Amino acid sequence: MSRLLLAAAVATLVLAVGAFEIEEATLASIQLGFKNGSLTSVELVRLYLDRIRRLNPLLRAVIEVNPDALRHAARADAERRSASPVKYLAGGGLLHGVPILLKDNIATHDALNTTAGSLALLGSLTRRDAGVVRRLRLAGAVVLGKANLDEWANFRSLHGSDGWSARGGQARNPYVLSADPCGSSGGSAIATAANMVAVTLGTERDGSILCPASLNSVVGIKPTVGLTSRAGVIPTTPRQDTIGPICRTVADAVHVLDAIVGYDARDAAATRRTSKYIPRGGYMQFLNMDGLKGKRIGVPNGFFNFPDGTVQQTVYGQHLNTMRKQGAILIENLDIENLDIIMDNLNNGQQIALPAEFKLSLNSYLLDLSYSPVRSLAEIIAFNNAHPIEERLKEIGQIIFLAAENTTGIGAPERAAIRQLKKLSANGLEKLMKEHKLDAIVMPNADASSALAIGGMPGISVPAGYGKMGVPFGLCFGGLRGYDPRLIEMAYAFEQNTKVRKAPMFMP
Ligand SMILES: *[C@@H]1O[C@H](CO)[C@@H](O)[C@H](O)[C@H]1NC(C)=O
Ligand SMILES: *[C@@H]1O[C@H](CO)[C@@H](O)[C@H](O)[C@H]1NC(C)=O
Ligand SMILES: *[C@@H]1O[C@H](CO)[C@@H](O)[C@H](O)[C@H]1NC(C)=O
Repeated sequence: MSRLLLAAAVATLVLAVGAFEIEEATLASIQLGFKNGSLTSVELVRLYLDRIRRLNPLLRAVIEVNPDALRHAARADAERRSASPVKYLAGGGLLHGVPILLKDNIATHDALNTTAGSLALLGSLTRRDAGVVRRLRLAGAVVLGKANLDEWANFRSLHGSDGWSARGGQARNPYVLSADPCGSSGGSAIATAANMVAVTLGTERDGSILCPASLNSVVGIKPTVGLTSRAGVIPTTPRQDTIGPICRTVADAVHVLDAIVGYDARDAAATRRTSKYIPRGGYMQFLNMDGLKGKRIGVPNGFFNFPDGTVQQTVYGQHLNTMRKQGAILIENLDIENLDIIMDNLNNGQQIALPAEFKLSLNSYLLDLSYSPVRSLAEIIAFNNAHPIEERLKEIGQIIFLAAENTTGIGAPERAAIRQLKKLSANGLEKLMKEHKLDAIVMPNADASSALAIGGMPGISVPAGYGKMGVPFGLCFGGLRGYDPRLIEMAYAFEQNTKVRKAPMFMP
């Protein structure tokens, strides 16, 4: 433990005495605090801002804090004082007055910048909040700031930037500072793990919520693609992009999910197509202690191959047994057809489809801004070339940007590649799940995220353990499109029966 961390921990401990306990605070405990007078939204925002000030120089989970957060919190406090309880519940529920941190590719129409971590977009202005942010504000949430991420959601180069962005610097895993925090929603996962905020949002194309949630011992929900609007989110591909919560508990993540799902005219086709999946009465009803009972859970080959004697081998084995004891039916030794091709993003069709989809969707995001120093992918490439030091051009490169710039829309090769991806998904995980009537598959961390990604399928990652050096690992439940409710049931029952999550060690 570094001296700096220790000092920060002690200072935070002193600060917390006599006040609301923000360590591992849940939405329920926060609302109880609001109700019984031990906490206000302004106090809560102050506690988190203070913690960000102390921990962020080391963890670099946050890029910007909202200069208007305290004002918005004061407004929430005033609303709560004046409104009748019924009106207040109907209007906001558990998110009212609660600070939330947004991954820096999710646009806000306020003082905050939205840059995907890149200096190229600094100073750009959006015309409106992203669809999910509009919903969060309607629910009364207070936007606390923007979270660090792998720059451009890890879509600039094949090497990836491993928790780094030019604006945010190098994000760190709060459990083991030298360990990979994973990405691209690393800042969101780190901030929530280290209690720098109540709840957060991330985004995922392939693993970007599930992986950092796993490696930072928090809960990540990757919703079925289209359940949450992508409007106003710096895109990679509308075929796979999805927005979801990263929080400390399944219940908190599910409450945030409840607030952000639904139709959005600016992402009309996808949000309309998936509206049939949204359960009447929302997702909270699936927080079911017996959620594993009778569930058919597949364990695909190729993922749980940990060497004998490792913590992972023992702990994952115990977890599978826990699920059996809770009444789940585990079906092992299953093969996902063409798994090796599905996992090979350089040969499965993604290498053709993604660059073309990215150029189209990014350029249309840029054109929609009310002001931007760059208006096209070509101008971003030129910006990086002109700022090689700040953008670490030599080490990281921008090969995906260059390949994308070479594309000329969705033509015959791209359509063929997209058909191929659909077929791989249909004959792969989708067929396996249908043939064996599975409710879910399980995987370590986000190790099978590509099998979910190419089918637009949902996943939920829950803390599962800590490796020999203390680096967290997770267990992910994945399923068919629209299976979000049953994944929530299983993830919640698993969480409640295992209770693995611990705050990072330097926390008091
Ligand atoms: C008020 O709420 C806080 C936060 O949930 C809790 O810790 C405290 O025990 C509550 N106090 C009373 C008197 O209920
Ligand atoms: C947004 O970026 C500008 C620089 O263009 C900076 O002056 C401003 O402080 C940033 N906003 C926040 C909230 O940090
Ligand atoms: C882009 O196209 C040019 C001209 O066809 C080619 O030389 C170059 O290698 C391509 N770059 C990438 C990254 O595909």
